[in-house]
Amino acid sequence: MQDFSQIIEQAKAFGHTVAVVSHIKSGKEAAVFRAMLDGKIVAMKVYKNPEERSFQNAYEYLAGKFYKSPSARRAVAKKNKFGRKLKQKNWIKREFFMLQKFHEAGAAIPRPILQIDDSIFMELLGDEGIVAPRLIDIELDQNEAATAYHSIIESILIFWEHGIVHADLSPYNVLWWKSKPFIIDFPQSIDKRLHPDARNILDRDLKNITKYFGRYTEVDLAAAEKRFK
Ligand SMILES: Nc1ncnc2c1ncn2[C@@H]1O[C@H](COP(=O)(O)OP(=O)(O)O)[C@@H](O)[C@H]1O
Ligand SMILES: [Mg+2]
Repeated sequence: MQDFSQIIEQAKAFGHTVAVVSHIKSGKEAAVFRAMLDGKIVAMKVYKNPEERSFQNAYEYLAGKFYKSPSARRAVAKKNKFGRKLKQKNWIKREFFMLQKFHEAGAAIPRPILQIDDSIFMELLGDEGIVAPRLIDIELDQNEAATAYHSIIESILIFWEHGIVHADLSPYNVLWWKSKPFIIDFPQSIDKRLHPDARNILDRDLKNITKYFGRYTEVDLAAAEKRFK
C-alpha cells in the first residue's frame, strides 16, 4: 500500500487519528480505502498528483466565496500565476466544501466528514467486509427503482441550484447501499455559470440516468428536464 504518513501526520496536527484498514479501489485520478478515523470506519479517497491536475472550470463560482482575502480573490479572478497556484492547491478543499453544501441541502451523496491533505474522508457505503455495489452491478425492483430515480433527479436539481453539473452521471457513479442510491465521484463537475455547454452536459446526465431507470420503472425525461431552469 502507498505511504499515508503525510495524511496521518496532518490529521494528527488537527487532532484526529487515522489508520488505513484496506484498499477498496484505484482509478486514474484517485484511490479509495477503508480507514478508521477517530475510531470509526469511513471511506478515504486519496487523489493522485493533485498539484499536476490541470485546473478545470469547475468550482470557480464557489471558489469566489471560498477565498477570504481580497488579494487571493483578485489573483484567482485574473488567472495569474499566484491564482493558478492557489486553485491547484485548493481544489480538493473546494470539492469538499461543495460536497458539504450538497449534503446539507439533502442530496443523495455519502456524508463528507473531513478533508486532509490530498484526501477526503466520507461515510463508508459498506462495512468491514463489503462495499456497496454500483447500480450497474445490481438489479432493482420497480419500487426501488421509482424511489431511487426520484432521489437522483432531486439531487441533480440540488447540484444545479448550487451552480454545478456532475458531468459524469451514470450507473457507474451511483452506489446502492441500504436500499438507497448514493451519487459519487465529483472531480469532473462543471460550473454552469462558466461552462458554455453546461445545459447540454446536464441533459446528458439526465438522459443517462433516465435511460438506466427506464428499464425498471416509468420515467419521463421531458418532465425531468423542464424542472431545470
Ligand atoms: N463512500 C464510499 N464508500 C464505499 N465505496 C466507495 C466510496 N466512494 C468510492 N467508493 C468506491 O471506489 C470506487 C471509485 O470511486 P470514485 O469516486 O468513482 O473514483 P474514480 O472513478 O475517480 O476512481 C467506486 O466505484 C466505489 O467502488
Ligand atoms: Mg468513478
